[in-house]
Amino acid sequence: MFSFNAQPLVFVFLTFLTFFSLVSASPISVTQRDVWTPAVITPTTGTTWTAGKTYTVTWDTSSPPAQITNPNGQIYLRQGDATQSSPIAQGFALSAGEANVTVPANVTAGDDWRVVLFGDSGNWSNVFTIVLAA
Ligand SMILES: *[C@@H]1O[C@H](CO)[C@@H](O)[C@H](O)[C@H]1NC(C)=O
Ligand SMILES: *[C@@H]1O[C@H](CO)[C@@H](O)[C@H](O)[C@H]1NC(C)=O
Ligand SMILES: *[C@@H]1O[C@H](CO)[C@@H](O)[C@H](O)[C@H]1NC(C)=O
Repeated sequence: MFSFNAQPLVFVFLTFLTFFSLVSASPISVTQRDVWTPAVITPTTGTTWTAGKTYTVTWDTSSPPAQITNPNGQIYLRQGDATQSSPIAQGFALSAGEANVTVPANVTAGDDWRVVLFGDSGNWSNVFTIVLAA
């Protein structure tokens, strides 16, 4: 008797796409004082992660603005131009400077991965490598 209504899901998906295209289309704005998304320190160039394992993402908390509009962070994995739809970490404080993330076991191995740290906006890590478990 239930008919599946996909409309809310489509809406969420479109909102999500819009959000990411805005983030990637415009260079990160530094004109808005309270916007703070710190630079990712690790992973970085030369880092190799293994799918299914847990690692610590760290970022630079040395210059927070006086007032942080969005103190809650989220971390996504991005391969090439494709940011994954589910965060690998969320609900942590940006001020902490680190969060532990587990690489999903079903990722595609490659040397074109980044993590994207979101606060008010997004800041990308350098490109690093993910390999599959042996
Ligand atoms: C992103 O990181 C850079 C340093 O790599 C920093 O200058 C910039 O302010 C950060 N972006 C935001 C929105 O805080
Ligand atoms: C991340 O994991 C390491 C090792 O288990 C632990 O020492 C550290 O406290 C964890 N960090 C966070 C932010 O949970
Ligand atoms: C990997 O698994 C997650 C969780 O089960 C799922 O949401 C995601 O779509 C999968 N990704 C791929 C590339 O299969």
